[in-house]
Amino acid sequence: MSGSATRHELRKAFRDKRLSLSPEQQNQAGLQLVEQYQQHAIFKGTRNIAIYLSFNGELNTRALIDYLWSAGCKVFVPILHPFCAGHLLFQEFTAHSQMRLNSFGIAEPKLDVRYLCPIQDLDVIFTPLVAFDIKGNRLGMGGGFYDRTLASLQSSSNETSPILTGLAHDIQLSPHLPTEAWDIPLPYILTPNKLYSFT
Ligand SMILES: Nc1ncnc2c1ncn2[C@@H]1O[C@H](COP(=O)(O)OP(=O)(O)O)[C@@H](O)[C@H]1O
Ligand SMILES: [Mg+2]
Repeated sequence: MSGSATRHELRKAFRDKRLSLSPEQQNQAGLQLVEQYQQHAIFKGTRNIAIYLSFNGELNTRALIDYLWSAGCKVFVPILHPFCAGHLLFQEFTAHSQMRLNSFGIAEPKLDVRYLCPIQDLDVIFTPLVAFDIKGNRLGMGGGFYDRTLASLQSSSNETSPILTGLAHDIQLSPHLPTEAWDIPLPYILTPNKLYSFT
């Protein structure tokens, strides 16, 4: 990939890479992700965890979600904000959640305000991504949803802020990503093989 590739070209190339993984490779990656999660001290003692339901070749989170439930954590997943366009809310996800497909065809729990978690009360936010670079820059699907939703954390950054961690296959590492002013970089990226720390 040349240094001058556009964000659009990079998204396409890295989405195709992700989609070329076999179901077996995806399952294996999801299991290794659990081992990685268990190994790293930064996640010790965390209770309220935002994560996503995998879509379009994203690193499979199913095994990690099962592990988090078994460990007594509360698991939250993003839902499209009903009236604040381009923003996400995080709602608790359980084995009994009633689900729907949103306008992108992605599964999300039906909105129930009783089960929403304000982002500053989350201990960890695991974000999906299309590509990342060695500085923690994140290229998403192109909607800017996480950039908008996490922007408020930047200004109120303190010790109790959620640990922002991208989840990715190792093949999603790009030598260099072009960035824009609104992009929220990630201090951590967890892959099936290692934790990158950019703090
Ligand atoms: N904090 C923000 N406020 C307003 N618009 C935003 C914000 N963050 C992103 N956007 C808009 O979202 C669009 C997609 O953002 P981009 O960073 O390219 O996507 P992604 O992060 O999903 O890769 C951009 O056109 C940008 O203008
Ligand atoms: Mg962005």
